[in-house]
Amino acid sequence: MKVRTKFVLSLLNTLWCMVAGQRYEHDDPILTKMMDRNFEMIKSTTFGEPLNLIFINTLKRFFPSLFKEDLRLRVFKECHDFSKMLIDERKAEGLYKHDPQNYIDVFLQKIEENQDDPKSVYTEENLQAMLSDLLQTGTTTTNAFVLETHRRGNIVPNPIPRTCPKDWNIRGYTIPKGSVILSNHYSVHMDKEYWGDPEVFRPDRFINDKGEFVLDKRVCHFGFGKRICIGITLANSVIPIFFATLLQNFNFSVVPGQEPPTMEPEIGVSLSPIEYEVKITNRAAGALLEQSRQG
Ligand code: HEM
Repeated sequence: MKVRTKFVLSLLNTLWCMVAGQRYEHDDPILTKMMDRNFEMIKSTTFGEPLNLIFINTLKRFFPSLFKEDLRLRVFKECHDFSKMLIDERKAEGLYKHDPQNYIDVFLQKIEENQDDPKSVYTEENLQAMLSDLLQTGTTTTNAFVLETHRRGNIVPNPIPRTCPKDWNIRGYTIPKGSVILSNHYSVHMDKEYWGDPEVFRPDRFINDKGEFVLDKRVCHFGFGKRICIGITLANSVIPIFFATLLQNFNFSVVPGQEPPTMEPEIGVSLSPIEYEVKITNRAAGALLEQSRQG
């Protein structure tokens, strides 16, 4: 079974249940189209590309297809249109007025409450932009295994570039106003001096002598500061449940005759696994078979 697609569809479904109260079939054409386009877009660039950061913005306007800018604009537009469709559906349903069911409903209620305030951030335009952001980022912890997966997986190696709002002094260095700040989480997660064996997947590095889980702030996969990832709560509550449910119900093994999946990622804004196949067997069925063999 091809698992990358399945996992992403399940995560998108969880997210959209919270945001719009919608659940889609895994072969739903809208959902699969969104996912395919997002995969394309994620692969189309990285935040760390020096050219992207320096002068390429001007060139992009003249040679959009060379820099895949046309693809990115198309995906943004599709996400915006999809968000608009969801908002219109919730507005037509009208439940938001007296019995809000989800994130969109609550936001619509706030728009109505603040309609006389010209400075209000609760506008339909902002709601649409936020839904588009969620749609594009959603498509990606309480225990050592999950933390080690985040460290070794480096899903977001270089987070969103930020701009320094004013001249800033830090440890004797001056960062001038307007500088683009790009943090390199990959180098922190893979620092040989700190981790010793960064290439090795070893969850026990987060378990102390007493067998307790110890959080290590060096794992900064959600970023830090005021613009830290807003999806933390969702990701941290969903990922362990996903893992636990899958491992409780299925055994995962290498497809006979095939090599284990490569650890090399597909490089883009986020690092994702290259599509891989896994043999999945039902644990309950396996246990029954074992019982019947023994007795
Ligand atoms: C394991 C999963 C995830 C990881 C590793 C991750 C990582 C990140 C990182 C590193 C940033 C940039 C923070 C910075 O600039 O310092 C970010 C921002 C963001 N993330 Fe996530 N994220 C994950 C899941 C999600 C989910 C599920 C959502 C949606 C519900 C989401 C929505 C966002 C948004 C909207 C931003 C921009 C926040 C802002 O600019 O204020 N993320 N994420």
